[in-house]
This record gives sequence, structure tokens and C-alpha cells, in this order.
Amino acid sequence: MAGVKILAIESSCDETAAAVVEDGRRVLSNVISSQIDIHTLYGGVVPEIASRKHTERICNVVAEALNKAQLKLEEVDAVAVTYGPGLVGALLVGVSYAKGLAYAAGKPLIGVHHIEGHICANLIDHPELKPPFLSLVVSGGHTTLVRVADYNRMEVLGITRDDAAGEAFDKVARAIGLGYPGGPKIDKISNEGDPAAIDFPRAKVGDSPYDFSFSGLKSAVLNYLNQCKMSGQEINVADVAASFQKAAVDSLCERVDMGLEELGDKVFALAGGVAANRHLRAGIEEVCKKHEVSFYCPEPILCTDNAAMIGAAAYYEYIAGVRHGLDLNAVPSLKLGERI
Ligand code: KG4
Ligand code: ZN
Repeated sequence: MAGVKILAIESSCDETAAAVVEDGRRVLSNVISSQIDIHTLYGGVVPEIASRKHTERICNVVAEALNKAQLKLEEVDAVAVTYGPGLVGALLVGVSYAKGLAYAAGKPLIGVHHIEGHICANLIDHPELKPPFLSLVVSGGHTTLVRVADYNRMEVLGITRDDAAGEAFDKVARAIGLGYPGGPKIDKISNEGDPAAIDFPRAKVGDSPYDFSFSGLKSAVLNYLNQCKMSGQEINVADVAASFQKAAVDSLCERVDMGLEELGDKVFALAGGVAANRHLRAGIEEVCKKHEVSFYCPEPILCTDNAAMIGAAAYYEYIAGVRHGLDLNAVPSLKLGERI
């Protein structure tokens, strides 16, 4: 099936986004309206504000995506939308809007899993990338090692038992006074720090070696900062950032190393907001090189939340015959592989 144009909408967290994607790989438009400026005032995403801002912006964002793609709503083949996981009020804005558009234009509606979207960001501009492959999704809400057996067959190998990797970046950044969102700020300032300055722990989850845990690492950083304050020792912010980042990246790389060793996959795709981190990209690339595995990672703008990735994932649902009814609802804790 060629020339399939999908209008996709994403509103699961603090980005109001719409895109038009052709055949899952070619981005005709990709509009992202970020709310970061507003949430920065509160040190993190405020769900109620996120929903209100999505409501204010979604009409313009969708109109701009169609305009940039030089298409009218009648000319797209389907409307796709993220329906979970995410903040329920935020998801509902996108889901309701997409249902309205699909109904008004008589187009099929396709609900997409947000994590599946992050993984499929790798398909954009990489026509040679095809399942099966191993993928690590690292974002503000998720840390998941996934075996992508086929476009719509994804098996979860490991998840975080507590904080997501991006959440740990954001919380540590706040503790060392860098502000929100912390990931990019830690990434930047760590260039001036020594990653070996402080030996922070790399947690292991005994009974499931593919699972992750970042709350112990976060607490270790907070304890270190408290101890410094109590003993009057000056805190070197760049060293703390670099040492924390090294510990987080090591934990992620270790699971990928183990997965590639055990499963023997020859293709690997990194995904999610934290995949924009240069040290993580370099670390995983190194692991892939060791196993002679092809390494893929989306460009930074496709790593953080966007709708082009939802359009990419939706194409493979579309050609597999997946259609949702107008009773589609937001599912805040939607599991990967689960269809509602
Ligand atoms: O995928 P995403 O946009 O939203 C979720 O689905 O959660 O990811 C946002 C997360 C935030 O925690 C942010 O701090 C982190 O990705 N992030 C980074 C970098 N850029 C974004 N973390 C580390 N280094 C970066 N360069
Ligand atoms: Zn995301």
C-alpha cells in the first residue's frame, strides 16, 4: 500500500503536536508546540495546565500541520492519535479532537501507543530499518527495553521498577539548581565536569536482570548533596552532573549489552527524549560496535515528543487493518502490546 498519508496528533504530556506522514517513513509536516516555558515556572509538568494549553493550541497546530503538508483534511487517508500512556486530561484533548476530525471527514481513526510511536521515530528517514530489532525507550515517563519482533508485535524485556531515566535526570537537575527540563541541562553542563569525580551506584534488580531502577541513584545524589552542605564542602555542580549521568548511562548500556549478547539481534534502535543525550548515544553506539550491530537513533527533534513518530507507527497499524471506533478513550496506563 503506497502513498498513504496519515494526519497524526500527539498530546500525551506537555507537547501539543500534529504531523502528516506518508507511508510511515516520509514526514510531510511536523508541528510541535511546546509548553516547556509554562511548566518551567513550576519546576515540572502541571497536568491541569497541560490539558488547558492543549485545548487552546490544538486547532492551530493541526491546521498548520495540514497547511505545511499542503493538504486538506479530505486528502489524508486516516487520522491517528496517541491514546496512552500519558496524562489522562492531556491525552483526552488529542483523542477527542482526532475523533471529531475523523467523524467530520469520514476518515478511519487509529489509536496509537505512545511508546510504539517513540520506537517508530527510528523508521523515519531510514528505509532500510525493518524488524526484528532490539530497542531501548528512555523518556521522562518510561524506561523500557523492547524486542520489536514485527511492526505491531513488541515484547517488553525490562522496565523501570521506580523512576524513569528522564525523571531521574529532571529530579537531579532540580536538586543541583539547573531547573526544568533537566536532561538537556545535565547533558550540557556535564561536558565541564569529571564523570569519575563521584562514584554513584549502578543499581541491579536481582530477580529480573533486564529491569532498571533509578530511584537509588537519585537518592545517592541527594544524600551526597546533603552531606556536602552539612560538612560545608563546596559542591561542584558539573562534577555531580557528569558523575550522575555516567552512572545512569552505564546502567542503560549494561542492559543493552546483555540483551544483544543473549538475543543475538543485529539491529538496535534507541528512542525517547533521553535518546537526545549525547553521552547515552555514544555509549550505546560503542556497545553496538562491540556486538557488530547496526545502530539507529532518531535525530534529536524526533527523540522528544512529536506527532511524526505517531504517524509512522500508525501506518503499520493502518496496513494491518487496525481501526478504532468513536468510542476510543484515553488510557493513561496503556500497556505495550495491549489493544483497547
Ligand atoms: O520523550 P519525552 O519528550 O517525553 C516523555 O514521553 O516522557 O522525554 C522527555 C524527557 C525529559 O525527562 C527530559 O529531561 C529528557 O527527556 N531529555 C534528556 C535530554 N533531552 C531530553 N535527557 C538527557 N539528555 C538530554 N539531552
Ligand atoms: Zn514521550
